[in-house]
Amino acid sequence: MAAMETKKLYIETVGCQMNMLDSELVVAALRKQGYALVPTPREADTILFNTCSVRQHAEDKIYSALGRLKHAKTQHPHKVIGVLGCMAQKDQQLIFERAPFVDLVVGPGQLHQVPELIEQVARDRQPRLEVSLDRKAGSRQAVAGSFESYDPLRDPEMRPTPHQAFVRIMIGCDKFCTYCIVPKVRGPEQSRPPGEIVAEARKLAAEGCREITLLGQTVNSYRHRAGERTTRLSDLLALLHEIDGLERIKFVTNFPKDMSQDLLHAVRDLPKVCRYLHVPVQSGSNRMLERMKRLYTVEEYREMLHRIRETIPGCAVTSDFIVGFSGETDDDFAQTVNLVAESRFKNSFIFKYSPREGTKGFELYADDVPEEIKRQRNNELLAVQNAISEEDNQPFIGREVQILVEGPSKREAKQQRQAAGDHEAHHDQTESPGPMQLTGRTMCDRIVVFDGNPRQIGHLLNVRIYDANAFTLFGLVATSHVGPEVYSLSLS
Ligand code: 5AD
Ligand code: SF4
Repeated sequence: MAAMETKKLYIETVGCQMNMLDSELVVAALRKQGYALVPTPREADTILFNTCSVRQHAEDKIYSALGRLKHAKTQHPHKVIGVLGCMAQKDQQLIFERAPFVDLVVGPGQLHQVPELIEQVARDRQPRLEVSLDRKAGSRQAVAGSFESYDPLRDPEMRPTPHQAFVRIMIGCDKFCTYCIVPKVRGPEQSRPPGEIVAEARKLAAEGCREITLLGQTVNSYRHRAGERTTRLSDLLALLHEIDGLERIKFVTNFPKDMSQDLLHAVRDLPKVCRYLHVPVQSGSNRMLERMKRLYTVEEYREMLHRIRETIPGCAVTSDFIVGFSGETDDDFAQTVNLVAESRFKNSFIFKYSPREGTKGFELYADDVPEEIKRQRNNELLAVQNAISEEDNQPFIGREVQILVEGPSKREAKQQRQAAGDHEAHHDQTESPGPMQLTGRTMCDRIVVFDGNPRQIGHLLNVRIYDANAFTLFGLVATSHVGPEVYSLSLS
């Protein structure tokens, strides 16, 4: 029976864009080996989880998903179950202890081995653990070498949309913020050669991709040296800007201290580069920033924000915050609220501190802010941010903006899923070309929802905004003969 495997793959991905990209690449490699994706673990021969370690919640989710598979594995022992990514690197052997039916544990630096490892496991029925060296387990070169960047194959069907793709420009992180597990599980910072990045972007553009998002944990620290020549992110943007067919270039995530002026000038001067910068500040209290070892002060962050706004008119800035980090007092939190109130971020992602074993923060500081206070602070900060997001979206009402159309809106996608479920149909949407609610994004990364036609997906389109809330702008397709009078009529 086992020898007759039909090679059906189920993969579940949690975490950041880096993980989404990793999953795309793993799926592409497995498709080449004859695997087909299936939508549930029940139907699958191979079940993979690409995992995240940044907060406890992300790990709990995976461990409970694994728990649910115990029974399936007893009944169908030929199924191969694999845990990939950051949690694999962090927990290693512990995963086998907690879930003895797992066959494969593969770190983010060994993903290129996944197809072969699956084959070996299916053949030998021996569990396999493949991870990188711990950061202290050898010389920098040896440790860096054990984290292999893996970018060989692309799979358009695994992307959020076929017109948008992530491109990795660096791996790892050397900042060692005290709360963060990333430097441990993703290894030393390594920038990819610019030639490889440009070649990949060219290929993507030739396949019809209109927008690329460059990925790195500290993407603006990108620096590639080859002999005399150093390539910075600003130089890379200029190279990518030349690629025909590409319309938009974004990059995430930025580290505040590395937000150099040459980069801001590149964003200002290169029309394909989105006027959108995600630059997490994490806290508005210098005492907390120091404890977090963020390497800048609130004053320096403010100055950087000022420089962004002065240099790049209309640039949207977004941030991340951690509330309830060790020792955070009401006063520290009040300073964070003040910073949010004055900074006018387009939006902020707010997280409750989650102590991570293996970080300096875990070792040195107690997790001493009660969960209830963390929750309150999270809600309060979110309310302040949401009010600002809503206010800042209002001036768009009545304006015409250019968007890149991404696909069906959330509402539309849900309706389509329900309709597909009703018909017991598969996921092919190509048969419904009628009008539908679509979503797209402006150059400054604002989401726009409008009624359009699927033909518009993947194209740039002008839309006139007639309403806005904190998260979304609502628009109507602007055509040359539809003036503001007509569109306001069509609203009523
Ligand atoms: N607890 C809570 N949030 C965290 N982040 C990183 N580590 C932790 C942690 N231990 C947040 C930071 C980072 C984002 C990706 O996740 O805000 O910018
Ligand atoms: Fe984590 Fe800090 Fe590196 Fe970001 S810069 S990945 S928060 S250690």
